[in-house]
Amino acid sequence: MGYVGNKEAWDIVISGLKRLEYRGYDSAGVVTVSRKRLRLARQVGHLRALQEATPEGLPGTIGIGHTRWATHGGVTEANCHPHRDADETVALVHNGIIDNMDALRTELTKQGITFRSETDTEVLAHLVGLAVREGLDLLSAVRQAMTKIEGTAGIVAVERNNPDVLVAARIGSPVVIGLGEQECWVASDTLALRPFTERMVVLDDGEIAEIRAGSFRTIDLDSRDREKRVEKILHRPEDAERGEFAHFMLKEIHEQPKAIDRSSLGRLDAATGTAHLGGMKSHEERLFDIEKIVFCGCGTSLYSAEVGAYLMTRYARIPAVAEDAAELTVKNPIVDRKTLYVAISQSGETADTLSAVKEVRQRGGLVAGITNVVGSSLARETAFGTYVHAGPEISVCSTKAFTAQVLATELLALRFARMRDLSASEGRAWVQALEKLPSQVNQMLEMTPTYRKLADRFARAKFTMFVGRGINVPVAGEGALKLKEIAYVAAEGMSGGAMKHGPLALIEEGTPVWALIPPDETRDRMIGNLRELKARGAFVIAVADGGDKEVRDFVDEVVPLPPHHATVSPMLTVIPLQLYAYYVALSLGYDIDKPRNLAKSVTVM
Ligand code: F6R
Repeated sequence: MGYVGNKEAWDIVISGLKRLEYRGYDSAGVVTVSRKRLRLARQVGHLRALQEATPEGLPGTIGIGHTRWATHGGVTEANCHPHRDADETVALVHNGIIDNMDALRTELTKQGITFRSETDTEVLAHLVGLAVREGLDLLSAVRQAMTKIEGTAGIVAVERNNPDVLVAARIGSPVVIGLGEQECWVASDTLALRPFTERMVVLDDGEIAEIRAGSFRTIDLDSRDREKRVEKILHRPEDAERGEFAHFMLKEIHEQPKAIDRSSLGRLDAATGTAHLGGMKSHEERLFDIEKIVFCGCGTSLYSAEVGAYLMTRYARIPAVAEDAAELTVKNPIVDRKTLYVAISQSGETADTLSAVKEVRQRGGLVAGITNVVGSSLARETAFGTYVHAGPEISVCSTKAFTAQVLATELLALRFARMRDLSASEGRAWVQALEKLPSQVNQMLEMTPTYRKLADRFARAKFTMFVGRGINVPVAGEGALKLKEIAYVAAEGMSGGAMKHGPLALIEEGTPVWALIPPDETRDRMIGNLRELKARGAFVIAVADGGDKEVRDFVDEVVPLPPHHATVSPMLTVIPLQLYAYYVALSLGYDIDKPRNLAKSVTVM
């Protein structure tokens, strides 16, 4: 986070960092410039600790700050950002990883530099500092330093002799500049800018910006000027606040009807039974010839990718698969011009997903993106795409992004299906099902007391199983992921068919099993799977048609689904699983929005 203007930088930088706290961090620091000196405050631990250690704040109307998540070197004050050069002329903060740090460190040590920390970032501070000492201005010095590093870097720097200028640069990691009247802000995420301004400029890869209170200028790594477009930040400041909810996760679960509504706004065509995705228009011709679709993503986004692949194959009749983005490049993928790649990522910054996108593009493949974050790297790296408009997702555990991503794949599949052999009346039925969804998701949310009761009962179960078939196999996986992630309960999600090939051995008397049995073509087979589970003593909770007597007779608890079209069931069946995981974690007393070992945006591979 950075600020330049006429107000006290300390307060603004701290308030920006607070809005980015959800990403997880272990230490924090700020530098301001005042009377031609760098003023530094750094502290291990919470931002509160930094504020307590610096009760007066730091003077100055220009400043930068950072919350660090240790990668190179332990959690110590010396390793905290900002880092300074040897002369203490420049200071900078850095988001990303410098891969050639060892070589650069050796080279700088030979030049007589003594390092004060174990971080990769300090290398950058010295490179910039040396260039300034040679007479370059801060913009040129940062540019020169950026050409020497390999890896990823979103940075913002200040220089003590030039207290009117911030310099920001981007290779890989996101950097956004907020524009005001006689003041500017810089951040790694628009969430930190939104309380101050609606107007932003997003740096593209390889760009460096010189930012003053009333103006900015952008160049590329070859020093050529770059024209930048001013964009609008679409979310509101309160979208990133918890409001009356105990946790962001609970708030975001409850935002799903609204998110679905927003995501489908203006995209459903009830008359012709199809969907319109603005981003697709310019590529419509090429899409007509597509013969295969490969979805990819990680974690929850991989599960929505799997739903997308199912919909494409089953309803649009286009062979489709979902691939773990982290594995896609490993297998040396075959890329051809008749395949469409669709990368899905809530943040649009997941390193594994971006790396897969780059590899496919580099081989000439056509890549579309589905993301929640406007201006994110995924949005910028793909040929076309769609925003899911779920609003900021703060909780590490992804919930509303899943339903909004599934919705986006529904729209894409519907569009493709109608370009192929889905009839207008079938298309209209699908559209009607999507239009009804927000109120049906609300109905699922209203059954929260049931989910909570089950969660309290089974919170200490040593293992929980989730099963589904067809379109609900990924939902079973997603249910298990939620429980592992926030409640640290061993869980598996799989197809009913896969169960008897091994995992069934885990079932004991009383093991909780969530079975997803919507009234579609998978129902009868799922009933067979229920018999297998009940015979081994499982406690089965079925998410099924409330009127399905046969299911009712078999299972221990039924969560009734409203009547719905088979295509949309994942957005209904996932709701109880999200809330179940939430209440299990609550009952076990865990930090729900910030689960251990995890960060919201995984920007390392
Ligand atoms: C699960 C979760 C992670 C993310 C994964 C991908 O609740 O949050 O599994 O889904 O790290 O993140 P994005 O979607 O930002 O690419």
